[in-house]
Order: sequence, then C-alpha cells, then structure tokens
Amino acid sequence: MQSLCGRISNYFVTSSARRIADRRLLAGRSCSTSACVPEIAGYEGVADHGGLHGFSVAQTERFWGAVARSRLSWNSPFHTVHDCDLSQGKIRWFLGGKLNVSVNCLDRHACAFPNRVALIWERDEPGSEVKVTYRQLLELTCRLGNLFRRHGVKKGDCVTLYMPTCPLAVASMLACARIGAAHNVVFAGFSAEALADRIRDAQSSMVITVNQGVRGGKVAELKKTVDVAVQSCPSVKQVFVALRTENPVGMTSRDALLEEELQKEDVVCEPAAMDSEDVLFLLYTSGSTGKPKGLVHTQAGYLLYALLTHKYVFNYHDGDVFGCVADIGWITGHTYTVYGPLANGGTTVLFESTPVYPDPGRYWEMVQRLKINQFYGAPTAIRLLLKYGDQWVQKYDRSSLKILGSVGEPINTEAWEWYHRVVGGGRCSVVDTWWQTETGGICIAPRPSDPDAVIVPGMAMRPFFGIKPVLMDKEGAVLSTNDTSGALCIAQPWPGMARTIHNDHQRFTETYCQPYRGYFFTGDGAYRCKEGYYQIIGRLDDVINVSGHRIGTAELEDVVNRCRWVAESAVIGYTHDIKGQGVYAFVVLKKEVDVQEADLVQHLKDMVSKSIAKYACPDFIQFVPRLPKTRSGKIMRRVLRKVVEHDVDGLGDLSTLEDPATVQEVIQGHHHLFSKTHQQ
Ligand code: PRX
Repeated sequence: MQSLCGRISNYFVTSSARRIADRRLLAGRSCSTSACVPEIAGYEGVADHGGLHGFSVAQTERFWGAVARSRLSWNSPFHTVHDCDLSQGKIRWFLGGKLNVSVNCLDRHACAFPNRVALIWERDEPGSEVKVTYRQLLELTCRLGNLFRRHGVKKGDCVTLYMPTCPLAVASMLACARIGAAHNVVFAGFSAEALADRIRDAQSSMVITVNQGVRGGKVAELKKTVDVAVQSCPSVKQVFVALRTENPVGMTSRDALLEEELQKEDVVCEPAAMDSEDVLFLLYTSGSTGKPKGLVHTQAGYLLYALLTHKYVFNYHDGDVFGCVADIGWITGHTYTVYGPLANGGTTVLFESTPVYPDPGRYWEMVQRLKINQFYGAPTAIRLLLKYGDQWVQKYDRSSLKILGSVGEPINTEAWEWYHRVVGGGRCSVVDTWWQTETGGICIAPRPSDPDAVIVPGMAMRPFFGIKPVLMDKEGAVLSTNDTSGALCIAQPWPGMARTIHNDHQRFTETYCQPYRGYFFTGDGAYRCKEGYYQIIGRLDDVINVSGHRIGTAELEDVVNRCRWVAESAVIGYTHDIKGQGVYAFVVLKKEVDVQEADLVQHLKDMVSKSIAKYACPDFIQFVPRLPKTRSGKIMRRVLRKVVEHDVDGLGDLSTLEDPATVQEVIQGHHHLFSKTHQQ
C-alpha cells in the first residue's frame, strides 16, 4: 500500500476590561477606515471605523448586499439581501442567489494564480511540510467530487469525515461543497460511540477516514474506530480510507482505498449551482441539555462572513501565510483554516501536531520555517507554553508575525501579556476573538478598528461589522448603560449565523431565539466596560469549556449514570490552570457496590472516554452519600461549584436546601479527596 505521505504527496507536488483599561498598546497596522471596505466608501457618515460599523448595523441590506455582490462569485445574483425573523428562528440571506462555495474557494484563484500555495500541511513530523497550490487543490477536489458522485452521493446528502487535519480532509470538504452535499466533520479525537451518534443523526451514507492518525508522535487507530462506529450505522454504504501511515489496515467489502480510487477520476468536476440557503455543513457541538446538536450552516452567508472576518480581524493581505492551529474538527478549523483563508485566495497552514511535540518550541519553529504572518491559537496552549519559559520562543525568528489571535475561551491577563510581549515581541496586535459554532465566524474582536485604537488585554472588545451586541438583565430587559454585566445577546441577524439544528428546529428556536424573544442568545455572560468594550465572562448554562472544547454537563452525567453502580451524579466545571476548566464529578453510589473505589474511578473515566472523548474525562470523581438539592429536588450546582472553588464563604442563600447537612458532607468529602490527591 502506498501512503498519503508517499504517492498522494507526490501527486500534490507533480501533477497538479476593566483591567488596564486605558493602557495603549502597539496596535500593528490594521486596516480600519472605509477605504478598506471600498464597496462602502463614499456613503454618508462612513469616515472611520466607527462610522463603518454604524453603517453596517443600521443599513444592513446596503452593507451586506454590497460586499456579497463584490466579494463572492455568483452563478445568478440574489434578489433579496435578507429575510429574517429572529423571534421565529427564520434566518435567510441572499435569496434567489446561486453560487458554488468550492468555485469561490478554488476555481477563481486557480484561474488567477494557479501556482500560489493554498495549503501548507504542517505534518506531525516537524520539517516535513507539504505545499499544495490552488491548481493542485482544485484538481484533488474535483477528483474527490467525481468519486463521491460515482458512489451515489447527491445534492442534499451528507458525508461524514473522521480525519486528521490534512489536505485530503480539506479537499473532501470542498468536494462535498462542489457537488452540493453537506459535510459533517467529526473531530478525530471522538470515540466510536460519539462518532456513531453523529453519523446516525446526519444519516450519512459515506464516511471518509485514514488508516491511522499521527499526532504528537502517537498513532491513533481512526479506521478501527470507524469500523466499530459503522456497525451501528445502517445508513453507511461506503467507507473510503486514505493512508496516513505505512501500516496495513483491515479492509472489508464496504471499504476502499481513497488514493487508489482517486487515480481513476477526472480532474474536472462540474460544480453544482447551489441556492444561498442550501446546507453547506453540519457541525455537532454540545449544549446544556440532551445530545449534541448538529448546527447547520448554509452556503453564501457563511462563506461571506468567513471571508470578511478573516480579512479584517486578521488584516489578511495577499501573500500572507495564515497559521490557524485549530483542528478541522472544530468550527475554528472550518472557518479560519479552510473557508475564510481560501475564499480570500490565501495561504493557510494545516497543523496536524501538538504545541509540545517534539518540544515546546514547535509553534515558533514552525512560524520561523513557514514565515507565518498571522498566528491563531487557543489560550490553553498559550498557558501551557508560558510555563515552559521564554527560551523556547526566543530561540526562533518570529519577525514574520504581524497579528496574534486567541480563541475558544477567555484569555487571562498573564497569558495575554506573555503572548504579546514574548511571542509577538511587543510588535503584534493580540486579538482576543469571541465567537461560537453557532455564530459561524468572529463576532467580537479588537480588530478591525482604527489602527491606533487601544487593545485591552483579555478583552474581545469590539463588535464586527453587522454585529450588534446587547446585554440583558435577568428579567429580559436590555441593559443600556456601560460598566454593566448581563446575558450576551445579538440584536439582529448576520449572514454567518447557524440557520437551525439538524432535524430539530424547535430546539434551535428554544435555545437561541426564545430566551430573549427577537434576539439571538449566545449562552455567554459578558461585561461592558465604561468605554463600551465587551469582555466575555463565560457560559451561563451548564456547558463546560475544557481546553476550548465544549462539553455539556448533562451529556457527562448521562454517561456516568449509565454505570450500574451509580445512583445519580452531578458534573460541574472548575477552574483549571492550563485547561481553563476541568471536569469534576460528584457521584452517589447505589447501596451494594462490590468494587474498589480506585477501580470504580478508573471505570467511570473509561466510560467517558469510550462514550465521548478523552478530553471530556473527569479530573476528579468524588463519591458522596447524597447531593445537595432543593426541596423540589433540583441539584444545587451553585453550591457544588463554590465548594470546588474553595469559596465556602460565598455559598450564598441556602434556605431552599432540603437538608443543609448535605453541604457539610460535600465539603468534607472534597477536602478528603484533595488531601489524598496532593499526597499522591
Ligand atoms: O463560552 C464561549 C467560549 O467558547 C464558546 C463557543 O464554543 P465553540 O462553539 O466550541 O466555539 C469555540 C471557537 C469559536 C463560547 O460560547 N469562547 C469562545 N471564544 C471566546 C470564548 N470565551 C471567552 N473569550 C473568547 N474569546
């Protein structure tokens, strides 16, 4: 068997806030005024960034209509910019328009500059990067599109990808877009069970995977995981397997080798003309209740928003090398590794490795070698690297860097300062970008803004064009003053937002549109400082953010409660030095338990790994005789959180507790667990 690193790579090469609020920091050169959005130049009142943002929210149709017409290539023009009613969860953009996303990401650039590098695949093995030009990526995408079509994938079908970040994964996403199928990328760290849930919900007939993944020098058995998953997925008729390693893999009659099949296909593939509102992809993410939800993004609005935010938040220019290190299994990988950069004709890095492999200098050695201009990563990695010391950064030349981005969770001031001072040498703007799987792209970030405007450490700060954030109080009234906190909502629709939850529009409207009728509810709390800038405080619901990855406490409790020895459980997030949040589980056991406590802890962790993913495993499992509950039987999570945060003075009003003694039991058990952990 020949591997993806062998023949296909040859094929690639040959054939085709509050805090420090008034501190001024070096801004970097950021494009800011109306001149940077020439479509809008000349409109009344649009003289500076503030005017441009004001115009974009006040004159939504003119703003989005103008940029959509000029930035995207259309088969047929749209007749209506938008038709939305947030209170009903009705969101439609660019009606009547037809286009193809892969044409926008590939053909138009392959035509203008075929030999420009589209992808730099930074493989796990340092120094072995593979470059793919626009022409090559277009050809690979076309071959894949033809292959999918030949195997019966039609417009409206959904293909599941369970792959590491690599050119074949990107080309598979674009091939789906080319033939009008939706893609459903499942993060390759998810377990067979989690993968099966997502395949079944999406009703995919085809799965694309690799024989083995390689990450941080370790091999992951992706094909074997797919084998287990598809046993409970009768919809799957075909599995294509690319070869990432030289190791043989068991194949069944349902499987075929991707690289071998691709050689049979033509390099031209007719793109489907898609309606603006046809589905582009599903991406599953955790909510506060129930099973993960398949958020649906559609064609034109998502692509335009990805393109525009990528261009302006990162001040991306032709010739820049954009390095977003997120995995393609998450929304950041979709929007800022794939769609945003490619729609802009950019060069984007596909990072397959980890920040500490083979050593903690990996990111910065890569920045030096690939001459990365914009680096986009997660606070959890920054916090981890900071602990290894400055020498791992300073060893390497980072003079190519212009902008440093942060995403996925709040970035604490220490990490922000280190990112700015050490990584960026004090020269680069640090942009803390707030957004979600649901929002499709960045909604709040320090840039774009006037080049000399302040950036406050640890604050996302300013709404992007078309975004009108509002804060709500507990009664659902809009908070209009500054220096205030509330539930973060967005007051009007924007093109990049998710349209629905696959097969469950009611859940979509209930989750996002009804809590504050007529507004999009983000699930986050935020603070608006005196100057009017936003700082994200964190989730208001029962969603934990572990290393920037969302996981619902209800999902975890479902798994833990499945254990035959468990009577009930309560899972909460607690502050973790590196991961941002860690998982802490309180577990009530049934009467007869015939296993050792340590074995039970391991068993429960294994259950979570097997049902969801390793990253979701609890760091702590505390067995308690009962949980603190209200008289109506509701678990008082607030109390559990305070105990775990060692803030027993802040327990607050306990008058609704059914039995106050439960609190003492939990506190004692927590101390016991902690002293045991520290002794080990
Ligand atoms: O709580 C917010 C947090 O991550 C959540 C969205 O997670 P997900 O859909 O997985 O997308 C992550 C990548 C966009 C948000 O509801 N979050 C994201 N960015 C930030 C953040 N919290 C604070 N600051 C941020 N910059």
